[in-house]
Amino acid sequence: MPKDRLDFPDNFIWGTSTGGHQVEGGNTYSDWWAWEQKGFIEDRTVSGRAMDYWNRHEEDHDLMAKLAYKGFRLGIEWARIEPQKDHFDREAIEHYRRMLQSLRQHGFKICLTLHHWVIPHWVAEQGDWLNPDTVSQFLRYVKFVIDELGDFPDYWVTLNEPMVPAVMGNLLGHFPPQRHSIWAFRTVSRSLLRAHAGAYQLIHTLHPLAPDNTQSKVGVAMAYPWIEAWNSRGLAGWYEHFAAFIARRLSSEGWDYTIQTGKPHWIHGGPAIAGIQNSYDYCGINYYTRASLKVDRRKRSQYWIDNSQAPEGVKITQMGWQIYPEGLYRTICSVWKRFGKPILITENGIADDTDKQRPCYIVEHLAQVHRALQEGIPILGYFHWSFLDNFEWREGFSKRFGLIAVQHNDPDLVRAPRRSAYLYSEIAQKNALTKEIVEEYAPEAMTTIFGVEETKHLKGSTYEQ
Ligand code: FCB
Repeated sequence: MPKDRLDFPDNFIWGTSTGGHQVEGGNTYSDWWAWEQKGFIEDRTVSGRAMDYWNRHEEDHDLMAKLAYKGFRLGIEWARIEPQKDHFDREAIEHYRRMLQSLRQHGFKICLTLHHWVIPHWVAEQGDWLNPDTVSQFLRYVKFVIDELGDFPDYWVTLNEPMVPAVMGNLLGHFPPQRHSIWAFRTVSRSLLRAHAGAYQLIHTLHPLAPDNTQSKVGVAMAYPWIEAWNSRGLAGWYEHFAAFIARRLSSEGWDYTIQTGKPHWIHGGPAIAGIQNSYDYCGINYYTRASLKVDRRKRSQYWIDNSQAPEGVKITQMGWQIYPEGLYRTICSVWKRFGKPILITENGIADDTDKQRPCYIVEHLAQVHRALQEGIPILGYFHWSFLDNFEWREGFSKRFGLIAVQHNDPDLVRAPRRSAYLYSEIAQKNALTKEIVEEYAPEAMTTIFGVEETKHLKGSTYEQ
């Protein structure tokens, strides 16, 4: 019999997620800042003052508390803390301390990211992660942060989606520093593995206890797109399966193998990396979509593969990404099988400026989280991406992931909660996905979640494109 409500475990963390560069504004000493000025952002915006979270954090934390959210994932920026080589900025660190204190006073669980793709400009100038000195310099910054701010994080994220800058910046050339080189990809991915292993050990050595006196919890927020072959006929079909095999290794399986076994996967190559084996206390999952890989002879720079097509009948988002909630469940199961460690959903969300698709997206993905919980997989919390609209990298401000709408060109940067912000608030307060909530906010999901037809007057309302 279908149930009336999907209850979540006590202490489940209902959080939201952000990245430093994307919301703070004024990250002027960074590589991304410099790159944006060159006109590479698709909508011709630059991060600029972003959402001015740097100055408005108190207001934002009050809003989160009002909405009864329980956790917050934020990043700190190396480029702010060490804007010039060997110069550590006291003011910046004190500013971060005040932000974290405010989060603590509001009672939020804090998930802190040490590296979310962006590096100081001086590091980029010296050859970023290709330069053999960068890892030790990164670890010096990490040590400084642990010494100064180590009391705050309930969860540490050493790196956000490390394979994304490795692939996008070094293999496909879509992100800075725009390389197209397998050699650069390998070197950078190895540096990032070393950076993670070093940070993991530093945290455990210098700050072995979390705020609740249990052991510190350190992990990576890993991107897990669900990757499949399109299944064309003949040679094209064969190539799609081959591409899917490679893409899975590149996006997460290679990295995960290295962490699990301690032996560098062939995509990274090279000798063993000290301290890498088992360097997760929990597994962070960033999940958004499924990619169906299809041969397209025009996509030469993408090795003749198009990943932007959706099979017929599958809904897509404003990013052009497929909506595939089951992929979250399948990812959770495979990560659990691989590592056997507790799981934190560190990102999941949708670009949707009208908020038509978001309510359904949220409840259908949460139902898949619940499905995994029912099977006994320990999932600690869910951090929705994102709290605010923000600077979406190459896409600029035109893609809006926020529960809270903010117009980047509004002089006052007014925070306007979308309907989804209240939906998420109700779920957090009830610690459950109930029939009433789903019927009110996303009636089109009633059948998939509760096996009930949506009521007539609401039929087909919001989910259609
Ligand atoms: C993830 C990134 C995050 C944001 C979302 C939409 O890959 O970690 O910063 O851009 O995608």
